[in-house]
Amino acid sequence: MSWQAIGIFDSGVGGLTVLREIVRVLPQEDTVYFGDTARVPYGTKSPETVTRYAGEIASFLLKRDIKLLVVACNTASAVALPSLKRQLSIPVVGVIEPGARRATEVTRSGRIGVIGTAGTIRSSAYTRAIKRLMPEAEVLTRACPLFVPLAEEGWTDNQVARLTAQSYLQELKDAAVDTLVLGCTHYPLLKPLIAEIMGPQVSLVDSAEETARTVAAILADKKLLRPEAEKGNHHYYVSDIPAGFIRVGNRFLGGRLGDVYQVSLDDEEGGAER
Ligand code: DGL
Repeated sequence: MSWQAIGIFDSGVGGLTVLREIVRVLPQEDTVYFGDTARVPYGTKSPETVTRYAGEIASFLLKRDIKLLVVACNTASAVALPSLKRQLSIPVVGVIEPGARRATEVTRSGRIGVIGTAGTIRSSAYTRAIKRLMPEAEVLTRACPLFVPLAEEGWTDNQVARLTAQSYLQELKDAAVDTLVLGCTHYPLLKPLIAEIMGPQVSLVDSAEETARTVAAILADKKLLRPEAEKGNHHYYVSDIPAGFIRVGNRFLGGRLGDVYQVSLDDEEGGAER
């Protein structure tokens, strides 16, 4: 058993959808969340830049004594996971592999759609992960960058969101995918709209849910789970002023955030609280 916390990071507020699922599955665990709000978005940045950011955040969280690191950001998972795994001696869980695995489990036709940021789609990380598990799968991908600001604005069910979603998803509908992976932290907020547009015959795979199940399985396997009677505490760190994170975060988390601290990753000691 280990009393240490689970570390989770994202480019900003989106990873709270992953945290929400982890807390649902493992309410007894403490968590430390880092949102890189000063440098968001990652989806438009180069793999080299995102990998550097991810390494800096991992060092910060390691100093907070974590037992497992969750890379909640799909873009960072897509490009920085191998480097983080090399760098760290604790288990590192990304969101791509769990989402890909679930997609191969639920597809009947083997035609799988994946949506994500430009960086995630360009990396082909989901396609590779799906094909590793199911070589005969046909994977169709589509970057949906406008979904991120729509989700943050709370525009998840209005005309603008509907038209945007229709135009992004039409190609995948025409291609008759029977499974669609929501490969971005923000997309669970648009799930009802995406489900409505894709129709009842298409199964939506939420990478956040699958990742939480994977985290639980790894901690159970390594005998690192806290006793079930415990109730976890949750700490939040961000790299820019917390106001926007708190405002949008409560919606992403589906509950109330605790205290949020602003830190600087430049500090030698791994982040000075302000
Ligand atoms: N968190 C990012 C992801 O899941 C979306 C926001 C961003 O572009 O940084 O890919």
